[in-house]
Amino acid sequence: MRKKPEELRSHRWYGVADLRAFGHRSRAAQMGYDRSDYAGKPVIAILNTWSEINPCHTHFKARVDEVKRGIWQAGGFPVELPVSSLSEPFQKPTTMMYRNFLAMEAEEILRSYPADGAVLMGGCDKTTPALVMGATSMNLPAIFMPAGPMLRGNWRGKTLGSGSDAWKYWAELRAGNIDECAWREIEAGIARSPGHCMTMGTASTMTSAVETLGLTLPGAASIPAADAGHARMATLTGKRIVDMVWEDLKPRDLLTAAAFDNAIVTVLALGGSTNAIVHLIAMARRAGVPLVLERFDELARTTPVLADVRPSGRFLMEDFYYAGGLRALLAELRDALALDCRTANGATLGENLAGAEIHDSEVVRTRANPLLAAGGLAVLRGNLAPDGAVIKPAAAEPRLLQHVGRAVVFEDYNDMAARIDDPALEVTPDSVLVLRNAGPQGGPGMPEWGQLPIPKRLLAEGVRDMVRISDARMSGTSYGACVLHVAPESFVGGPLALAQTGDLIELDVAGRRLMLRIDDAELMRRRRLWKAPPARYQRGYGALFQKHVGQADQGCDFDFLEGTAPTPDPEIH
Ligand code: FES
Repeated sequence: MRKKPEELRSHRWYGVADLRAFGHRSRAAQMGYDRSDYAGKPVIAILNTWSEINPCHTHFKARVDEVKRGIWQAGGFPVELPVSSLSEPFQKPTTMMYRNFLAMEAEEILRSYPADGAVLMGGCDKTTPALVMGATSMNLPAIFMPAGPMLRGNWRGKTLGSGSDAWKYWAELRAGNIDECAWREIEAGIARSPGHCMTMGTASTMTSAVETLGLTLPGAASIPAADAGHARMATLTGKRIVDMVWEDLKPRDLLTAAAFDNAIVTVLALGGSTNAIVHLIAMARRAGVPLVLERFDELARTTPVLADVRPSGRFLMEDFYYAGGLRALLAELRDALALDCRTANGATLGENLAGAEIHDSEVVRTRANPLLAAGGLAVLRGNLAPDGAVIKPAAAEPRLLQHVGRAVVFEDYNDMAARIDDPALEVTPDSVLVLRNAGPQGGPGMPEWGQLPIPKRLLAEGVRDMVRISDARMSGTSYGACVLHVAPESFVGGPLALAQTGDLIELDVAGRRLMLRIDDAELMRRRRLWKAPPARYQRGYGALFQKHVGQADQGCDFDFLEGTAPTPDPEIH
């Protein structure tokens, strides 16, 4: 049943005959709006993560006008509300520390202003989960407008991919295989248009997952930011949210357990970022869906990797779009998806896939010719990670997936940076590099340090991958035999805190095991000697973060933001 204008949430601000509403209307008039601009219309809050320090969202400054055009055309009243930008390359120590900050900001902005619905404009890594988490908790009709990937990078005619090729050529520079001049050319050519990272990093992974969850219009996530189709999608998104308000179609109507399974299948088939695990768990818990790590492992055992996109594959998001994009990939996976899940346009996922087809089966592989038959992610457990750890086997050298080696332990990032290239470091290609104090509290914010650099001496010998273990995350654009998200983290006394240089560590991906090969008595002895590190923050957001952030296997949300308990709307006096 369609809502009536007087049932709109914003009616309380604009539509009633009291002194407060007089104030709201007179202030709207001050901004140049006539009553006919907003009376009886849904107020659509556009949460825009544009800023002058987020290169992935530079086009949002103009794109927001296209969203507004759609809202006006459909009979809504657009109100742009800037929110935190979470610029992945610039914000320190890591945007992950501020994901929950933006989630909280998004929720409270929607709650405290006269919003009837929301357009969420995000794309750079953490902006997507953050906006969705906040909008889910507020549970007003909301639609996501993805930033879209940037165009392919270019260097001397070679294609460059965000992140992946930075790591790759940095290693070549350190190994002496390219010179400073080439490195500067790569710097100038690797990011040459607006849009988020165009490898299958966290940004492309999460916007695709959110499309499969039903929170965008069909096809929205794959369109490159610089493509005219992106502007048209922005207008259509603006149009659609107005009807979603009248229909009262809210995030929790879409975000079911089956929809999250679809999103996990999507992440796996894309060879997507391990970061998606943390984000999807956090998003699911906001929707009241109890998603656990093992669900990723279960679905990974049967889901093929079909996107031949870096870092797991060869191509980039621009190629993926031309090959048919996410809709083509999902159409190929129909039998693995719950097709009856509702989506933002009112149709089911299955209906939205009608007519989708692969235009280039080199880029979007068919079921008959997958990049990997299964096993895009694996969840490990063992005495080093009682609450779980993850690895992306597709991004690792296969010989390392079954490995026993001696640990080389780094106390924290600074220790690692100071010693990794020390010629005196006792390290061999079979060593297992261990980094601790890089988790949610220890980092803090679980920075993307999980792809520890290969020691320079080994690089020069031609070594390009080693087993690395940490409680950190890894950029979705990274690769290597990196065991990540070890939980509980070392900072709070997880067993990673007890590992010592020289210990034997066993990684058994097939058996899903991560073991520190010392006996229980020795582990107990070390535990008794362990001392908790001092708290890093005495005040401010850091202190709040440290006190309330959860572990990786729980999604790293704040304990007081999780769940679906109702929060009252503000009273308007
Ligand atoms: Fe924004 Fe990679 S830096 S998505």
